[in-house]
Amino acid sequence: MSTAEPLVLAVDQGTSATKAILVDRHGDIVARASAPVALATPAPGWVEQSAEEIWDSCRRVVAACLDGQDVARVATIGLSTQRESLLLWDRATGAPLSPLLGWLDRRTAGDHALLRAGPDAELIREVSGLPLDPMFSAPKAAWLLDRHDPDRRRSRAGELCLGTVDSWLLFKLGGAHLIEVGNAARTQLLDVRRCVWDERLTRIFDVPHEVLPQVVPSQGPFPGTRGLAPLPDGVPVTAVLGDSHAALFAHAGWQRGTVKATYGTGSSVMAVIPTATRVSSGLCLTVAWQTGGCPTWAVEGNIRSTGATVNWLAGLLGRPPSELAELAADSSEGVTMVPAFGGLGAPWWDENAVGLISGITLGTEAGHIARAALESIAFQVEDVVAAVERETGPVARLLADGGASSNPVLMQLQADTSGRAVERALARDLSALGAAHLAGLTRGCGTGPTWTG
Ligand SMILES: Nc1ncnc2c1ncn2[C@@H]1O[C@H](COP(=O)(O)OP(=O)(O)OP(=O)(O)O)[C@@H](O)[C@H]1O
Ligand SMILES: [Mg+2]
Repeated sequence: MSTAEPLVLAVDQGTSATKAILVDRHGDIVARASAPVALATPAPGWVEQSAEEIWDSCRRVVAACLDGQDVARVATIGLSTQRESLLLWDRATGAPLSPLLGWLDRRTAGDHALLRAGPDAELIREVSGLPLDPMFSAPKAAWLLDRHDPDRRRSRAGELCLGTVDSWLLFKLGGAHLIEVGNAARTQLLDVRRCVWDERLTRIFDVPHEVLPQVVPSQGPFPGTRGLAPLPDGVPVTAVLGDSHAALFAHAGWQRGTVKATYGTGSSVMAVIPTATRVSSGLCLTVAWQTGGCPTWAVEGNIRSTGATVNWLAGLLGRPPSELAELAADSSEGVTMVPAFGGLGAPWWDENAVGLISGITLGTEAGHIARAALESIAFQVEDVVAAVERETGPVARLLADGGASSNPVLMQLQADTSGRAVERALARDLSALGAAHLAGLTRGCGTGPTWTG
């Protein structure tokens, strides 16, 4: 390593894009790069991505971010990843046997209806901390194994690897089959309190332990990198976090009475809690991160469509998403939108909910519908914050981040709707920053605070 000040490289692999940032010890971002990743919907309710394209996008953003930089200063790497999405690959060849089944994928909804009515429903909810929903990885695991290893022989023989995006990237980077504990907590196969794969859950979903990655704390140990030009091989990865968890970490949002809301493709509302209590109110209990040997738990509610609503409407109106705020009228004039494109997530978890726009008249203009779309985001977030409040006590502060939080109209609407102080992160790419901060801490080259305002 060079004698110049060390830098931390962080990669945030999101649903719509992979981003890389280079951070100095003051927390300032000195370089950034981004590459879009494609999303395929080959059948109604199916959402897939290419695992190889995701890996390739990581390599490209790292190379672009480090272009013109002194790579010898890169002391460590942090990773933040989309969660719950799952793929299967061949351990010997490293070749994917399936596309990545995205977290938005609903192909297992039918199996879920059966599970929800069955005798195991309460056990699954209690042990995993998660409601039964096709978003989580366990039903995707069963679906993938039913197609590629129906008798589970190859799984038991250790020939196959199941993994989330963090597992896949760690495998490509260093050849080990690992999963970070916060990501594992979103699979629905982990005992969320003991932080180990649970025999009962793996039996219910018929997923042999041999096909699952080893669960590792958020600071590792992870293997060093290889083949990540222009970096030399062996740069240590010292932090891996789920993207939503990483944003929470970057906000330093773990005070009582504080929640964070990430406005990405969907939204995650999250609050740190002191112990892993039983969670109701339509929320999830999850592991935020595990540092220094001890897990930190959080309550979380997931909304399926927030930024995706903006994308959809912007596409329909033939404008970029960033222009929707300018287009939005001061009032929706009675137009209401429920963006239940694939059912509703927290706190309702209603598979059968359908999207609708109501209250239209001959006087309705595009601006009213744009306003209704933004209102639908604020209303959904407030529904979840109110549910968090029922679990944790009064919530006074909402810390916002994610692409759609750059929209001032939406942020004002959020504050007006909820009557809480809404503080937007000034930095973009908070998930990447959270991964950078934790990686820097682990490596002993802290990267400073993230300011909000
Ligand atoms: N000015 C804006 N107003 C409203 N929405 C916006 C604006 N700019 C971007 N968005 C929305 O933000 C979303 C992208 O945010 P972000 O980059 O945080 O998502 P992501 O990281 O790809 O997804 P995820 O975090 O869900 O995996 C898009 O859905 C886009 O429509
Ligand atoms: Mg993101």
